[in-house]
Amino acid sequence: MTEKKRILSGMRPTGPLHLGNLHGALENWVKMQEEYDCFFFIADWHALTSDYEDTSRILQYVKNMMLDWLSAGLSPEKSTLFVQSDIMEHAELFLILSMITPVPWLERNPTYKDQLVQLSSKDLSTFGFLGYPVLQAADIIMYKAYGVPVGVDQVPHIEITREIARRFNYLYGEVFPEPQAILTQTPKILGTDRRKMSKSYDNAIYLSDNPENISAKVSRMITDPQRARRSDPGNPEVCNVFEYHKVYSDSESVAQINETCRVAQIGCVECKKIMAQNLIKVLEPIREKRAYYEANSDLVNDIILQGGKKAREVARLTMKEVRAAMKI
Ligand code: TRP
Ligand code: SF4
Repeated sequence: MTEKKRILSGMRPTGPLHLGNLHGALENWVKMQEEYDCFFFIADWHALTSDYEDTSRILQYVKNMMLDWLSAGLSPEKSTLFVQSDIMEHAELFLILSMITPVPWLERNPTYKDQLVQLSSKDLSTFGFLGYPVLQAADIIMYKAYGVPVGVDQVPHIEITREIARRFNYLYGEVFPEPQAILTQTPKILGTDRRKMSKSYDNAIYLSDNPENISAKVSRMITDPQRARRSDPGNPEVCNVFEYHKVYSDSESVAQINETCRVAQIGCVECKKIMAQNLIKVLEPIREKRAYYEANSDLVNDIILQGGKKAREVARLTMKEVRAAMKI
């Protein structure tokens, strides 16, 4: 038997996960569990880099994120699921890597420059925020991951990780493989307002939404803006509800709506109801698993504990090698 290749990825616990996270990342992770030795972790220290002032919700977000993960099908039997701050070794490796990382590499990181502009309401002139990619590099190379499944926005961070790994190896000897980004597809659906689905736009449908919530959100979705009256023919091609149908309804219904909308045989209210029902049905298994884990919160705590143990074993070995290579 050949050893499975190892992959690793993480998410910052900044709030509940939505359909965009499901199709953009989680579904992909769930599949990868069959093929790879997977390490998935909740990057709570990374959440501090921009939200250090108000830390009151982080712990709750961490717990809920693990619930979201388990409900979506990540399995502690198949993968190592853990929380970053449970593994002190990440902080040690971060410190060491910070010694060898030239500041200009971080200053020219496009994500850093973007965020400074976008989050201008926050004071991000901190050492930790600049060092975000160094902590991320520590997360990744700690486990000698071969691949990192991420969205395209994370590519600069993986590139910096490779540069840091190379520099470590050059200075102290070959310890770390250079990881590669495994690009996850961009989610097939947009937010209810047709912008990118995001908590901050208030346009997200969450995995933890109950059927009533989902129906209410769908009923408020914008349809074909040209279709003012029920008797007006519609154009599914410009309608966000139709995009959702393509993902959540069967192909016969999609074909039927495509025809009947164009000749005003179906109204938007009815069309949305059908879509909401199908979406609710697709999310049913996720809701069921969540209810199970919510009723057994000890189980979730134990999964976090056991995952932490497994991750720590690997991290300890790596840090032994690091200290030996550096003669400290
Ligand atoms: N920066 C990542 C994000 O915002 C989260 C993250 C932290 C991460 N450490 C990581 C992703 C290591 C992959 C590997 O999405
Ligand atoms: Fe969109 Fe359906 Fe209304 Fe057509 S009937 S415009 S597809 S919501």
